[in-house]
Amino acid sequence: MIQRPRGTRDLLPPETRLWQAVERVAQDVFGAFGGDEIRTPIFESTELFVRSVGESTDIVHKEMYTFPDRKGRSLTLRPEGTAGVARAWIENSLNDRSHPLRLYYIGPMFRYERMQAGRYRQFAQIGLEILGANGPLADAELLVTLDEFFRRLGFDDLEFHINNLGDPEDRPHYQALLKQRLGLRRGELCRDCQRRFDENPLRILDCKVPACREVAKDLPAVDEVASEASRGHVRAVEAQLARLGVRFVRNPRLVRGLDYYLRTVFEVVSPQLGTNTVLCGGGRYDRLIADLGGPAMPGVGFAVGEDRIVQVLPASFRDAVLALPRLYLVPLGERARDEALGLAAGWVRAGVRLELEVAGRSVKAALKRADREAFSFVAILGDDELAAGVIAIRDLARSVEESVALSELPAWITRQTASSS
Ligand code: HAM
Repeated sequence: MIQRPRGTRDLLPPETRLWQAVERVAQDVFGAFGGDEIRTPIFESTELFVRSVGESTDIVHKEMYTFPDRKGRSLTLRPEGTAGVARAWIENSLNDRSHPLRLYYIGPMFRYERMQAGRYRQFAQIGLEILGANGPLADAELLVTLDEFFRRLGFDDLEFHINNLGDPEDRPHYQALLKQRLGLRRGELCRDCQRRFDENPLRILDCKVPACREVAKDLPAVDEVASEASRGHVRAVEAQLARLGVRFVRNPRLVRGLDYYLRTVFEVVSPQLGTNTVLCGGGRYDRLIADLGGPAMPGVGFAVGEDRIVQVLPASFRDAVLALPRLYLVPLGERARDEALGLAAGWVRAGVRLELEVAGRSVKAALKRADREAFSFVAILGDDELAAGVIAIRDLARSVEESVALSELPAWITRQTASSS
């Protein structure tokens, strides 16, 4: 038997209903804050990710799905969405549109990750980027949009972790300081951090290996040596969040695994999953578009891990989505079978969600199935009922059965549903 590749998943019903519902909430909330969808290719030139995500990052170093196409060009399945949005911005001269642009995307990303709970090699992100605004209000709006998205999904226990990564000009000074402090303890670090020591010592701050954590806890925070402008920026973002009651904590160890960030960075953590399985990450990247050959164009954005969100969805949201009232329409007799599809189509047009019995089950078999599949209502349409213009309908949850006029069925279901909620 051919099996799916390691780290990939088949998403099956009814879970796919949860995915659709989460995506609808994202579209509604991001759209309400002025966002529009952007769809970029799933594969791009390898160079795009090397230059944006950064050569020394784990993603570029060891996690990309890179392959030559038939003409020998190096392509990569996108490991994240921001680089493609930045490329599209430059290539389509979006600079000419009025700013800022709020662009969101929903789709699969690919990273060759080591297998762990909550980590997949194909996973989906829901991302939002605000391009063309450099003030702290844009960061705050982005975080408030994110907070609203989580609220509508029913979350009330998530933690927003925020940090200041300073400006790129602060980086050499900070890196030198880290190396100076770490010099004697280098041998205590894990193998990855030994490499990071030379290439990107910042990443040592958020290594999850206990020995590295122990060493990192004594290191100075970036904020301590960052420019006054960057400190003021992040403080202004935090002040806005405090004003609006968005709960957050300053986490001086938060550095993120992609190289394009400066100033504000943040992650969202769920107490259920812990800090190793982050639900969302993002931050400001004012130099990315210019670094890729475009104009000077600031940006700030985030991406939510959709697989992880669905995994920890609050029961209130899950139940509401999965318990949609569904009618099971069972025609019995020749005439009823002829007429059933037309009736079903009319009721669907009137807003009813239903399933027509097309496999010819008997009443007994149909009732058994209705029970197993958790339908809310079963309607049995016999030839006699049809002649009288009525249908026998049963509310399974309340064991109520009634004979309802065919034309009244949608209204009857709406009434039943309203009175049970
Ligand atoms: P990231 O932190 O690499 O940031 O990924 C964002 C989110 O994607 C993570 O918080 C996590 O929920 C999810 N994720 C990442 N890798 C996996 C995986 N292997 N399996 C399941 N979920 C995963 C970015 O990608 C940036 N582009 C975010 C951003 C947008 N920054 C600015 N704009």
